Amino acid sequence: MNRLVEMKDVVKKYGSKVTVDHLNLTIQEGEIFGLLGPNGAGKSTTIHMLSGLLKIDYGSICLDGFSVAERPLETKRRIGLVPQDLAIYEEMSALDNVMFFARLYGLRGALLKERVDEALAFVGLQDRKKDKPKSFSGGMKRRLNIACAITHRPKLIIMDEPTVGIDPQSRNHILESVRELNRMGSTVIYTSHYMEEVAAISTRVGIMDGGRLIACGTQEELRAKVAGEEKLTIEAQGIPEAALEELRQHPHMIRVVPLEEGVEVYLNSTQAYLQDILFVLSKHQVRIRSLTQTEPDLETLFLSLTGRSLRD
Ligand SMILES: Nc1ncnc2c1ncn2[C@@H]1O[C@H](COP(=O)(O)OP(=O)(O)OP(=O)(O)O)[C@@H](O)[C@H]1O
Ligand SMILES: [Mg+2]
Repeated sequence: MNRLVEMKDVVKKYGSKVTVDHLNLTIQEGEIFGLLGPNGAGKSTTIHMLSGLLKIDYGSICLDGFSVAERPLETKRRIGLVPQDLAIYEEMSALDNVMFFARLYGLRGALLKERVDEALAFVGLQDRKKDKPKSFSGGMKRRLNIACAITHRPKLIIMDEPTVGIDPQSRNHILESVRELNRMGSTVIYTSHYMEEVAAISTRVGIMDGGRLIACGTQEELRAKVAGEEKLTIEAQGIPEAALEELRQHPHMIRVVPLEEGVEVYLNSTQAYLQDILFVLSKHQVRIRSLTQTEPDLETLFLSLTGRSLRD
């Protein structure tokens, strides 16, 4: 398979702060690659360097065999970027917005009109094309932003947190459009700090934290790294610190994560030690509302690698 993206030893610094730290990443043509990481992990910085919007301090980035630094035009026309911060003109109609970006990508005449209509229909905004985005919901603006990025049929579509702060319907629409764009032949890079979303659509996942790529692989490969862990989520109000401490002291405990209303405990077998856990909680008069046992997931892996939760 063709290597579409090759980032080698890429470094980005702001002053003395290393924002992207010796990043190595290869993405094959045809993938939906999910880049997962908490706020400030360096996802957008990585995306901006790959898109040629930000200079790298060290290393190299190639797209479809072209160096992003040396052949900016060749690489830019292969990319459709849907940025985290919306890039649309509020005072122009939806149609004019998409036209504007399509012209930037060199489309003219009948083909321009055809591709613009196609893009608006693709994101479900055909019947709102005369309206200005200032009257749109957050989700509709996101969808318009996607339409602006796809008229030139880029080989690589990059969406930077496209589902933050939007309604569930638009969210599903966007996730489905990622799949559809991929079926139609585009490779997709998708960043998010929502584990569930990345798990739902990605063929491969990279996990970033503190500027470093701390894990990368298929979901199966990543889950295998924490195959020895099971999670038990206990819903209960006001678990005293003494109970948490006692849970931490259990000889087979891997990790105890207090929640707002309850606790998560990670063990190599939750079933084998369930009685012990219940015993500790009942000793401290904790009234349990529910118990759920789950297999390890990407959240477990993030916790296991960083000691922190992805959610906060
Ligand atoms: N122009 C800049 N000047 C200085 N520091 C910056 C600049 N841009 C980003 N940073 C810092 O670099 C780090 C990574 O930022 P980045 O935006 O790449 O993270 P992210 O993973 O996209 O986070 P989020 O999920 O919040 O979008 C952060 O600590 C951020 O404050
Ligand atoms: Mg970002």
